[in-house]
Amino acid sequence: MKIDIVTIFPEIAEAPLNSSIMGRAIAGGYVEINFHDLREFTTDKHRQVDDTPYGGGPGMVMKPEPFFAAIEKIKTPAAKVIFLTPQGKQFKQARAVDLSKEEHLIFLCGHYEGVDHRVVEALVDEEISIGDYVLTNGTIAAAIVVDSVVRLIPGVLGDDQSAAVESFSGDGKRIEAPHYTRPAEFQGMAVPDILLSGNHAKIDEWRDEMAEQRTRENRPDLLE
Ligand code: ADE
Repeated sequence: MKIDIVTIFPEIAEAPLNSSIMGRAIAGGYVEINFHDLREFTTDKHRQVDDTPYGGGPGMVMKPEPFFAAIEKIKTPAAKVIFLTPQGKQFKQARAVDLSKEEHLIFLCGHYEGVDHRVVEALVDEEISIGDYVLTNGTIAAAIVVDSVVRLIPGVLGDDQSAAVESFSGDGKRIEAPHYTRPAEFQGMAVPDILLSGNHAKIDEWRDEMAEQRTRENRPDLLE
């Protein structure tokens, strides 16, 4: 898979996506990630990427020209162009699974009050929000979406099982059961006996029950 991230702050996406599992996914050739500075696509002396909004109002709006120039240079026929914005469709695990099968993803990241809407109308295939809160910068959201997508590319996670049985996978209606490791007793708190029993049928049953209970407590919306 090829990923291009277009932003005025490439360094915000570079740090998380060059480390740990993402760094290994790049080194292993599972994904190629290119970080583009939007200012490289300006043509004026001051490399201006924003301007005041038509109709008045607070803040600045990102100019269309640098985004159009960036897409002109980067886009391939297979590319899907995604814009990160709190006005987008809410991102879910099922969308991450679908995006992990794409050949080429381009992420356009906003800043300030927003972006000239002609960018969305003419260039963008999909607007994504990572949740109902507002960040200072879409680049943080892009790093989150890219991480969730790249880890699903076959081979990126060492153990293929770990993506198959996690929260929101399958029908997306449950979160995972809790996990424990050694020591079996710690500060008076014991690991549930069943996990030490070696009875895998019973352990599966227990995990099902716990997943159900944890979902009821923390994410009742998933059960509706
Ligand atoms: N930019 C600012 N807030 C955002 C959000 N919640 N999701 C995606 N992009 C954003």
